[in-house]
Amino acid sequence: MGMLAIRNIGELVLVPPGPVGGTWMGRVKSIESAAVLIDGDAMTWCGPESDLDAPQECETLDAEGGCVVPGLIDCHTHTVFAGTREAEFVQRLEGKSYAEIAESGGGIRVTVDAVRSASREQLVELTLPRLRRMLHNGVTTVEIKSGYGLNVDDERKMLEAIRELNGLQPIELVATYLAAHTTPQEFDGRVDEYLDLILDGFLLSRIRDEQLAEFCDVFCERTAFDIPQSRRVLETTKQYGLRPKVHADQITQIGASRLAAESGAVSADHLEMIDEGGIAAMKKAGCVGVLLPGCSFFLGVEQAPARQLLEADLPIALATDYNPGSAMMESLPQVMSIACTQMRMTPTEALVAVTANAAAALARESRLGAIKPGMQADLVVLDVPNHARWLYEPGRNCVRTVLKKGRVVARNDR
Ligand code: NIG
Ligand code: FE
Repeated sequence: MGMLAIRNIGELVLVPPGPVGGTWMGRVKSIESAAVLIDGDAMTWCGPESDLDAPQECETLDAEGGCVVPGLIDCHTHTVFAGTREAEFVQRLEGKSYAEIAESGGGIRVTVDAVRSASREQLVELTLPRLRRMLHNGVTTVEIKSGYGLNVDDERKMLEAIRELNGLQPIELVATYLAAHTTPQEFDGRVDEYLDLILDGFLLSRIRDEQLAEFCDVFCERTAFDIPQSRRVLETTKQYGLRPKVHADQITQIGASRLAAESGAVSADHLEMIDEGGIAAMKKAGCVGVLLPGCSFFLGVEQAPARQLLEADLPIALATDYNPGSAMMESLPQVMSIACTQMRMTPTEALVAVTANAAAALARESRLGAIKPGMQADLVVLDVPNHARWLYEPGRNCVRTVLKKGRVVARNDR
């Protein structure tokens, strides 16, 4: 593969490799009238275009004065699912809460029924167009969780669908084992027996040996798994090489973010109800805080205290949480705009949160999420001159061209 120069860049945002602490995220610098040189799948140079020294045989991509940012990383999604749940959306508008719907047998279990009825091939077919639209929004890496199978065969089916999807389209997919999403109906009142099933050594060694998942996540919440149960999930799966993540402090405060810190989790996600103890523990443990403002927007509930977390100097990431129950939203740029207007994050903080820090939340910060020689050339060319202009316009897709490993993988017509 040859060399490529991206020229005529209106603003090149020099996002540094993550994790970037909250008090530094807003200070990231940009270069105007910039260029980037790519050799193979990595960047080899970036700087003012006047200093560009491109070899003769080099191909050129004209950014036409647009802003260039790192490829976006959606580090928390449930993109593999079947069926929809608009009935619950209406129930919530009539006054029921997400937790009440879950407790009365709705919620996650509805999607579990639909996923169990779908074949692996059907899950792949349902997910491909979602990933294509994500790519066209500038997203080049996506984490996807299992958690709608809730038995050995259907959890495996979901993880195999993710692995297959990885080879069928340009986005790099990262798989997370989330069998501890909720207890399935057939195990009502027998939570520990359900955990015996999903933590079975034979199953976990298959997941490890076939590289079906990199991370293990648990929904640590009053309506799902308590602290000792969640600890058991994370400590057991760690022995099989799965790195911990936690759905923490979403609806109630039961100490989930502190458990994430104690377990050495790469990230604690949601954090709408985080407290001072959780913030201090996460900071000490070097745990990335993943905020999901699209979820609060969609459920019509309060947002996580982003400014408080930034001021505590935690590295903050943002993700869509794309799922049919609590965040039927697949556009990461729209979620970034919501983070700006509803959580008071600056456009620069939002950008760092979906690049450098999202890479850190997926343990990929040495390769992805930054603009620097040596980093993988996952880049997005926007049709607007700066990144503030992009997030100021959430109703329109401002992405012009998407590059993955130095190759153009998507273009949007104007
Ligand atoms: O991140 N909180 C738990 N899991 C998802 C919702 C899944 C669902 O409702 O289907 C979340 O919000
Ligand atoms: Fe989630």
